[in-house]
Amino acid sequence: MQREIVDYEDYDYREFWSGKKRGYEHLSEIYALKKLISKKGKRFIDIGGGYGRLSSTYINLFPQTVLLDYSLKNLSVAKKELSKISKSKIFFVASDAYDMPFKNFTFDFAISIRLIHHLTQPQNFFDEVSRILTPQSFFILEYANKRNLKRMGKFLIRKGAENPFLIEPSMIGKNIYNFHPEFIIDKLESVGFKTLNILSVSTFRLTSIKKIISPEILSRIDNIVQLPLGLVKTGPSIFVLSQKRDEKTVEISSDAEKIPWKCIYCKSDIIDEKEDELICNQCGTKFPIIDGIYDFRKK
Ligand SMILES: C[S@@+](CC[C@H](N)C(=O)[O-])C[C@H]1O[C@@H](n2cnc3c(N)ncnc32)[C@H](O)[C@@H]1O
Ligand SMILES: [Zn+2]
Repeated sequence: MQREIVDYEDYDYREFWSGKKRGYEHLSEIYALKKLISKKGKRFIDIGGGYGRLSSTYINLFPQTVLLDYSLKNLSVAKKELSKISKSKIFFVASDAYDMPFKNFTFDFAISIRLIHHLTQPQNFFDEVSRILTPQSFFILEYANKRNLKRMGKFLIRKGAENPFLIEPSMIGKNIYNFHPEFIIDKLESVGFKTLNILSVSTFRLTSIKKIISPEILSRIDNIVQLPLGLVKTGPSIFVLSQKRDEKTVEISSDAEKIPWKCIYCKSDIIDEKEDELICNQCGTKFPIIDGIYDFRKK
């Protein structure tokens, strides 16, 4: 299958979340992340972080934070908003999540929410996440769950609907995939992560319920059931907190001003940082810094 990046440049993703329509899901995701993110570490990354919708759950918790996304448009929105409120160092990086411009063992906390449903090659993504994380670091992954209650019900009533019990990912739209919980746990295990906690999120994503109960109240109920329903994994959105197993520890440099960059072409880590660009010392590639956003998108 071809590696294709879902393009958000011509799409107003902030608009998707504006108003009350998805207020319940948004607030439920904030509750989930608040439960799972602990202030443990030096360098944090939000992979496919979009315009920083969920940044209130991690901003200022770590000395250094990276918001990585392929869309320059989303990152520009994030930069405008977050630069005002961030007290610690925050870097905005335009890059493909399959091929991130960091040395091995750069981060000790990573999250990726609503990204993997766009990835045609999840294995490459898992390999890459594992590569950039230190041993014993934490990783929170959100995925769209194909084996959710609504799908199971539909399948059991009308035999025609797609079988949600099959382990393989289902394509539910152009470049949108839903995953089986076992598929995700297997992949995490295969790249060295053990599962610590699972939350079932947005269980009440039904128009009829959302019409009569406000987002604030419904998300509070969601918050209560996320952990118990995590045991059966029946929600449409699943949050998994995992930890990288490796025994040996790798110290992250404490220089809060610097990121250990790596060239995405020749893999060299000798990168000169100038005011408006990074230059790879080995292959000479120049990576522009556009309005404070590091641009590693392949041309
Ligand atoms: C559904 S949005 C989720 C954004 C954010 N995590 C949130 O929950 O609000 C998916 C994001 O993934 C980004 N994206 C898609 N494919 C990507 C890739 N291969 N590498 C990096 N980012 C990607 C898009 O630009 C978009 O901002
Ligand atoms: Zn290079």
